[in-house]
Amino acid sequence: MISNTYIYEADSDVIRFVQITDPHLFKDEQGELLGVNTQQSLTQVLTELKENQFNYDFVLATGDIVQDSSEEAYLRFCKSVQQLDKMVFWIPGNHDFQPKMFDILVQEHGNLSPKKHLLLGDKWQILMLDSQVFGVPHGQLGQYQLEWLDSKLKDNPDRYSLVVLHHHILPTHSSWLDQHNLRNAHELAQVLAQYDNVRGILYGHIHQAMDGTWKDYQIMATPSTCIQFKPDSNVFALDTLQPGWREVELHSDGSIITRVNRIQKASFLPNMQEDGY
Ligand SMILES: [Fe+2]
Repeated sequence: MISNTYIYEADSDVIRFVQITDPHLFKDEQGELLGVNTQQSLTQVLTELKENQFNYDFVLATGDIVQDSSEEAYLRFCKSVQQLDKMVFWIPGNHDFQPKMFDILVQEHGNLSPKKHLLLGDKWQILMLDSQVFGVPHGQLGQYQLEWLDSKLKDNPDRYSLVVLHHHILPTHSSWLDQHNLRNAHELAQVLAQYDNVRGILYGHIHQAMDGTWKDYQIMATPSTCIQFKPDSNVFALDTLQPGWREVELHSDGSIITRVNRIQKASFLPNMQEDGY
């Protein structure tokens, strides 16, 4: 069996990475999601990310890479992230089509890796989970995912852990979106509670920045590279905030220092009257 583990030998005490999420690319390069050209907004995010001074080691792409299950959109994602010149690790979101993802998002199409367990230096590990339930927008961690997570935590008792998935755990206070959350967060909590070195949980899906705490874990959610959803809105509503990405530093004392950046050199405004997506 091929190992699912990627070993990153850090030359610094601090592990640094960036998260990009929910690009929602289309087969057609001109494809728009509620009035935003998602390829253009991803390109702008990557351009400004490259210009930024943050010296990161790798990239996490946390799902909803494409909107229409097309091979063309996955290939264009590979081409887009190639310019970053760093390894890109990824997980599926509710919109992804996993058979194509696993065929295309591999090293032969660029700097991508399908590995889900990252051993980072001596102090940290990242565990990337698949919370997709095929065909529906909400998330659920299956038994295999929970057992895999448990075994990696058990195997690495001396490492701090960051758990990464697509779906959200903390409410956004937008009921239309919160019905699409991770349905079995309690089962995730039961696994994590057996270990005292889990430090954070990182996700995408909600198209908005969020920094919070859940059961002592640091919780982070990140703007999409395309449209943004408005928090605290029970009916579907878009935000005028710009696309962005997240920087994360994993420190050797177990702390996580993080920051969200949004693009500043271009502006993408969706069609604000849309009432769903
Ligand atoms: Fe999503």
